[in-house]
Amino acid sequence: MADEVTQRKIEHVNIALERDVSAPQRANWNDIQFVHQALPEVDLDRIDLTTSFLGHTLRYPIFMSSLTGGHPDVININRNLARAAEHYGLALGVGSQRAAILNPELAASYTVTREHAPNAFLIANIGAPQLIQQAGHQPFTIEQVQRAIQMIQANALAVHMNSLQEAAQPEGDRNAVGEAAALKQLVQHIERPVIAKETGAGVSREQAFLLRSCGVSAIDVGGAGGSSMSAIEAARSQSRGNTRTMNIGQLYRDWGIPTPIAVVEANTARLPLISTGGVRNGLDAARALALGATLVGIGFPFLKAASESYEKVCEVVENILAELKVAMQLSGAANLAQLHATDIVVTGATREWLTLRGFEDELKAMAQRRWRLIQQQSMLTQPDALPCNNDPIKKKA
Ligand SMILES: Cc1cc2nc3c(=O)[nH]c(=O)nc-3n(C[C@H](O)[C@H](O)[C@H](O)COP(=O)(O)O)c2cc1C
Repeated sequence: MADEVTQRKIEHVNIALERDVSAPQRANWNDIQFVHQALPEVDLDRIDLTTSFLGHTLRYPIFMSSLTGGHPDVININRNLARAAEHYGLALGVGSQRAAILNPELAASYTVTREHAPNAFLIANIGAPQLIQQAGHQPFTIEQVQRAIQMIQANALAVHMNSLQEAAQPEGDRNAVGEAAALKQLVQHIERPVIAKETGAGVSREQAFLLRSCGVSAIDVGGAGGSSMSAIEAARSQSRGNTRTMNIGQLYRDWGIPTPIAVVEANTARLPLISTGGVRNGLDAARALALGATLVGIGFPFLKAASESYEKVCEVVENILAELKVAMQLSGAANLAQLHATDIVVTGATREWLTLRGFEDELKAMAQRRWRLIQQQSMLTQPDALPCNNDPIKKKA
């Protein structure tokens, strides 16, 4: 079992790096548009990106998503990610720690993150399917989960929800009955905040409420439109000659709730949100934050960069931050609180979905945030007092 898990970990990384494993986007980030501010009154060089997440102050709202660990060949990737997380003050996740829980000799591929990022917000990782009884193995004990947290002196624990991946995996865990109860039990017994993390199929409004009732502290919506674990498993199945799971992996490659939609849906539970899945530039990141996310999770771009060098990881971070700041300036936001209060117009398939799901009022409110604020302040009757230097949106922030 331990060898099987560690072999799978390196196959995931190699397939993601060698093939196109992205999911085609039906509803996508282009459906989210900012309302341009011709006189934004924001200095591009003085934009403040600090944010607070689970009681910690982060310099930037970027989460280097949980990607890898569990094989000696990925130590370098995690080292490069950790050095950048430390340098920029970013949150960093490790990949599933199942491999090292089963075989402690593999811990070095995870502990390298804390060694190189002594001050970063590190997020441990285990799978929800491993919290319950499966055909091939017993559930992890609370003590084993605590070991994963201690392994990297993690600030939080992500419990990944990956039923789609397991269904497309030749040797996957098929049972998902009892995961919510197991999650609730876990939350009560560990001393770190727990983040419920989807891995590419998204979190709906109803599931977000279920997760809140389980006591999780935050949700990573992990929506469709980015790296597809289903596509990765299809490639693994193909190399093993398992046609059935290969077909499942291909058929469900783009299954799930697109990330921008998942952010709006999950936001109804009023928990801190991480928006992961298909964020590929700073404009997408700005869109996610304006929709309500606290952090933006980015996986594949960091994996690819970290497989090359530390410098490449820094380049990705710098590019995303520069692009994000431009979106903020042009929409009149000098900090993240102001970005959350900017006007965003949701169109296309994203709007269609959200309208049918009953979010019409929210969509209108997002498109008219400034105007409604102005109306609230009774300025409508005094056109001369329309905001200039005294922009009400900034006063509020
Ligand atoms: C090679 C690879 C391995 C991954 N392993 C894990 C994992 O072990 N645990 C987890 O929670 N998510 C895992 N993920 C999912 C990522 O954290 C992230 O949700 C996903 O890549 C979507 O983000 P992206 O579109 O920016 O890549 C993995 C993703 C990739 C590409």
